[in-house]
Amino acid sequence: MTTPIDLRSDTVTKPTPAMRRAMADADVGDDVLDGDPTVKRLEQRVAALLGKPEALFFPTGTMANQAGLWLLGEPGTEVYCHDDSHIVNWEIAGVAALAGLQVRLVRGGPVLDAEALRAAFRPASVHAPRASLVCAENTHNGAGGMVTSLERLRAIRDTAAEAGLPVHLDGARLWNASVASGTPLADFAACAATVMVSFSKGLGAPVGACLAGDAAPMRRAWEVRKRFGGGMRQSGVLAAAALHGLEHHLPRLHEDHARARELAAALTGIPGVAVVPPDTNIVMLDLTAGQQAVDVVAKAKAAGVLVTMWHRTRVRCVLHLDIDDVALRRAITVLVEAVRP
Ligand SMILES: Cc1ncc(COP(=O)(O)O)c(C=O)c1O
Repeated sequence: MTTPIDLRSDTVTKPTPAMRRAMADADVGDDVLDGDPTVKRLEQRVAALLGKPEALFFPTGTMANQAGLWLLGEPGTEVYCHDDSHIVNWEIAGVAALAGLQVRLVRGGPVLDAEALRAAFRPASVHAPRASLVCAENTHNGAGGMVTSLERLRAIRDTAAEAGLPVHLDGARLWNASVASGTPLADFAACAATVMVSFSKGLGAPVGACLAGDAAPMRRAWEVRKRFGGGMRQSGVLAAAALHGLEHHLPRLHEDHARARELAAALTGIPGVAVVPPDTNIVMLDLTAGQQAVDVVAKAKAAGVLVTMWHRTRVRCVLHLDIDDVALRRAITVLVEAVRP
């Protein structure tokens, strides 16, 4: 049987032989005891890329997001989040369980914007919860990898600042946002007090993320990571994979974006399917003629292509390092049939 073409997520990539060699050759220490030289190198590189004084290596993006919320938030207050954001939908209420925050959903457009944020602010009252931070996501996974432009992100930061609130940025795919928009990573990062970036998505590393931030919130980042169980020992092996991804896979992300556009173009015009035009590497297909996502996913799977049911009538396809042009052509052939009413 041929190997399925896996478009479920960009997290499914397997470390390349060159990445595995970089991991095997990594210089390591004990990062909890007195430091690991490769982890240090990664943290310095990410801090420089994001223009922040500090960056700390975490095992997962989820843990780094939760640490960011913990560092900026105050238990018993609210965090403003877009209603379709990762921290609301896919971090199993860590916001409440770990940081002690209540989510105040911001509804409106497909991604967070300043006007919707302002509209969600509560009038000050001793009877209503106070807020302590705002969380933005760029690119926005649930909106089909949509880029929030620098102008829009600055407006979010300024609106949050008017209310005295810092911003945490879930930048799991900030790499993609930067490549697609031509905006330097540091310009995006300057809009937030803490930023999470992930290495295990488009960059192809097996695990890992960094939380970068301004000096004040990062003062307690090491302590929080340790408390969350994220202190790692010879983690230079993992940091080496991330460094390899930054060096060799960041410069090729535009290929994933081009393939996403090709997939979107091939599926546009099929009756009963509305394709969300992709900014980056994620293609969302809305089924508009009664088809169910669960059936489309099953039909595609039977023909050797794996995609994700995002919700009842939405299917997500993600392009990544392990999808070349041959795989893309096969996926297009299968999906054109699978999505038909
Ligand atoms: C937008 C976003 N944030 C955070 C995460 C969490 O990253 P991790 O899987 O490393 O915990 C993901 C994972 O898919 C994501 O898409």
